[in-house]
This record gives sequence, structure tokens and C-alpha cells, in this order.
Amino acid sequence: MNSRRLVIAVDGPAASGKGTIAKALARHYGLPHMDTGMLYRSAALALWRFGGDPGEEFEAAGAAREIGNIDPDDPELRSETIGELASRVSAYPAVRQILKERQEEFAGQPSGAVLDGRDIGTVIYPTATSKLFVTASPEVRAERRFGELQARGANAHYDEVLADIRARDQRDSDRAAAPLVQAEDADLLDTSNLGIDEAVAEAIRLVDARIG
Ligand code: CDP
Repeated sequence: MNSRRLVIAVDGPAASGKGTIAKALARHYGLPHMDTGMLYRSAALALWRFGGDPGEEFEAAGAAREIGNIDPDDPELRSETIGELASRVSAYPAVRQILKERQEEFAGQPSGAVLDGRDIGTVIYPTATSKLFVTASPEVRAERRFGELQARGANAHYDEVLADIRARDQRDSDRAAAPLVQAEDADLLDTSNLGIDEAVAEAIRLVDARIG
């Protein structure tokens, strides 16, 4: 393996800005990017379409095995209903195991890669060159998510969005299987008071410092 191969792990909670930052890093360093949340969302959507029971691990695992090509522009995948369901099915070890292989393969490609998710730096690719843990206060994240929903014309209420963010944080952090936690060797990037350009510039600075 080329020792200069660059793999960047970007983890963090919902609406922290990790997706935007990961995409910008991929562009900056000329690397392919994987939004791993889309895998969990796709498993959730498959389960939902089959009318499967999210309370049953084997049904969720069956849905995770069904995932084929993902259309990232599918509006159903981005919906709050599917995000919430994704958070539930992602707590099952069997689901995580099935989706792990695709992520490892992506991270291991010769070109290097940027992956964003919850457990990239801790479980999927602990040897990543650079790990960022991107976060922001729940209120700021709820405001961002609320703005996104309004822009999409969805009928959203700020209080409900905030409650959903808090519930999702708790479920993602408290689960036994690959909980959301900052890797010991990750750099913390708090975007609460940063605009997109500032957050991206800071992310590039942190990655560059790791590349040395
Ligand atoms: O950005 P947002 O949290 O809305 O959604 P996402 O990143 O698409 O992830 C949806 C759900 O999938 C999260 O709430 C997590 O529970 C789960 N997920 C995970 O467990 N591990 C990942 N690597 C990515 C997402």
C-alpha cells in the first residue's frame, strides 16, 4: 500500500456539517467520497417499502442485504421519517456488519477516500490518516436542519426538529454497537460559530497538519 494514500474519516452527530465538510475535503484533495449515512438510510427505506418490522433485527438485516445501487437524489432517502428509521436500524449489530464491508472496501481503494458517518474513525477505518469529529450545539444543528426542511418545502416545526435531534443524539451515542463517540486521535471541529467556508478552511488546516 502506498504510504501516502490519504484516508479521511469525518464523524459526528446529525446536522453538524460533516457531510458538507466531507464533500469539500474530497474536492480539495481529489478523493472519492462516501456518505455512509446513505447506506443506513437505504436499509431503512428498503425495510419501510417491504413493510418490515423495525423492532426485529433479522428483518432489518434482510433489508440491509437488499441494498443495490443508491440514488443519492432520491428525496425519500433524505426524509426525516427515513432518517429516524435509519437511526433505529443502525443500532443492530447485524445491520452494521452487513454494511461494514462496503465501507471498508471504499476506504481501502488505492486512490484513498473520504468517508463521513458515525464510526468511521473508531470502527470502520481506525488507521485513517486524518480523523475529524465535527459537532455543533443541538440548537444550532436544529436550526440548520429546520432551514433545510423549509427550503425543501417540508412542513417543519423548530421545537420538533430540536427534539428529534436530541433523541437521535441519544440513540446514536447510547447504543452498544459502534456508538457515536470521538476517536481518541480525532481532531474536534466545533462548527457552532462557523459558516461553511470557515468550517471547511479549518477542516483543511486540520487535515494538512496531520499529513505533515
Ligand atoms: O445527518 P443525519 O444524521 O440526518 O443522517 P445520516 O448521517 O444520513 O445518518 C442517519 C442515521 O444513520 C444516523 O442517525 C445514525 O444512526 C445512522 N448512521 C450510523 O449509525 N453510522 C454511520 N456511519 C452513518 C449513519
